[in-house]
Amino acid sequence: VENGRLDAEFLLAHVLGVARLDLYLQFDRPLGAQELAAFKALLKRRAAREPLQYVLGRTSFRELELVTDSRALIPRPETEGLVEEVLAWFRNRPEAGTGGDGQPDSQGAWGSALDLGTGTGAIALSLLKEGEFSHVVGTDPSREALELAAENARVLSPDHPLDLREGFLFEPLEEGERFRLIVSNPPYVPTGDLDFLQEEIRAWEPRGALVAGPQGMDVLSPLVRQAPAWLEPGGLLALEVGDQQAPEVVGIMEEVGAYRTFRIRPDLGGGQRYVLGVASKGR
Ligand SMILES: C[S@@+](CC[C@H](N)C(=O)[O-])C[C@H]1O[C@@H](n2cnc3c(N)ncnc32)[C@H](O)[C@@H]1O
Repeated sequence: VENGRLDAEFLLAHVLGVARLDLYLQFDRPLGAQELAAFKALLKRRAAREPLQYVLGRTSFRELELVTDSRALIPRPETEGLVEEVLAWFRNRPEAGTGGDGQPDSQGAWGSALDLGTGTGAIALSLLKEGEFSHVVGTDPSREALELAAENARVLSPDHPLDLREGFLFEPLEEGERFRLIVSNPPYVPTGDLDFLQEEIRAWEPRGALVAGPQGMDVLSPLVRQAPAWLEPGGLLALEVGDQQAPEVVGIMEEVGAYRTFRIRPDLGGGQRYVLGVASKGR
């Protein structure tokens, strides 16, 4: 296990209910038999290469502490960057807070947002917490993932409910619905690349959250083609994509002809991981 010592420290701190630093501050504290048994049980799971976040049952994502288990993909730091891109776009836009037609939004908010493939609910719940959206919809074809997202939403956003719906791509939407934002971190790993991923990912995370056909484009491609029909004029499509996929995704935006601008943005490591497109017109 990569970083085995660090992970063991996190697990021990979890069992003892203390911060990791306290292990060093209380280095001479003996472990009781029950504590030791609980620690060993968690160590065994991690030694079987179950991801640390599943064993701990939690992970942090931006300002949130999310419950994580094998029902959904573990939210990644890159995806925190996607949320940052979205928030920056809305904050920097003078017309945010107005309808796509330029009329002021009745609630002075940023309008409706859709998080397609919501998993744990990480993106959608961050938008509810940090953004000013009047309504946030999260979709996923995985019922298990939606159950986990609902659990997270109940705890993290009790006053501003997350609207969760089951289905592939835009299936769960109702005729006539329009969004000012569609954001997605869809599955984008080419099927053949799965074998090269770490065992923690390959053997433990939901396959349907990772792979998307031979080129990894089986969700991204229809998503980019169909999104303009569900965006308000001037609405934003914001995507996280795989390492080499950004030019192809922009190519599809050009081909579709329903995006007025599009750009590729880097993640913190400098990789071309985010694609933003602004819809020129609805359907
Ligand atoms: C890479 S995970 C992202 C999860 C979460 N949004 C995040 O960033 O941590 C992709 C998610 O998309 C869902 N998904 C897979 N195929 C889909 C499709 N055709 N339409 C919508 N969602 C899909 C998966 O079930 C999974 O929860």
